[in-house]
Amino acid sequence: MSHTWILKDKVFTKYLGSDEIQTAVRSLANRISQDLQDTKPVFIVVLNGAFIFAADLLKKVKIDCEIAFVKLSSYNGMESSGEVQEVIGLQIPLKGRHVVIIEDIVDTGLTLHRFLQKVHEMEPADVRIAACLLKPDAFKMNFPIDYLCFSIPNEFVVGYGLDYDGLGRNSSEIYKIQNS
Ligand code: IMP
Ligand code: MG
Repeated sequence: MSHTWILKDKVFTKYLGSDEIQTAVRSLANRISQDLQDTKPVFIVVLNGAFIFAADLLKKVKIDCEIAFVKLSSYNGMESSGEVQEVIGLQIPLKGRHVVIIEDIVDTGLTLHRFLQKVHEMEPADVRIAACLLKPDAFKMNFPIDYLCFSIPNEFVVGYGLDYDGLGRNSSEIYKIQNS
């Protein structure tokens, strides 16, 4: 993929390359495998955005685990709407389980905040969060991001599962919006 990517009406430039991402994902997977060995954790993958990060991460996690999926939506275009809808619900009981929620990006943190409340109602033993990206300047909550690949500036990014109006998920690299 070239340095510039045009999606609809926006121009994006390459920000994080595939090797850099894979190195960070591997180190996260190693930490998770070490921290959660013998707990048989449940990973909850937040669709759609986390599908590529979760696939890469979980292939590198070398402990027995279960994997579940949930689809939440709170975003239209480039702005967070603040409304969190659970589109596909959780089918798996979490009582007494060690849970790791896998997210593509934590922006304001509102989506995860609402979802965390639902997860806690299910009485898990422990809940952790693994995210590929965090925008610390946009983050409004105070829960910890236990496993994080990259902190990034408060700018819109696409690729590696992340989209702009449905486009751009299918890249192994991350692109940042070009400011005009
Ligand atoms: P939050 O509720 O503000 O933390 O938003 C979280 C969700 O918004 C993420 O899971 C993404 O799906 C989406 N999102 C936030 N920032 C970006 C971005 O820069 N590019 C693409 N999607 C984003
Ligand atoms: Mg997401």
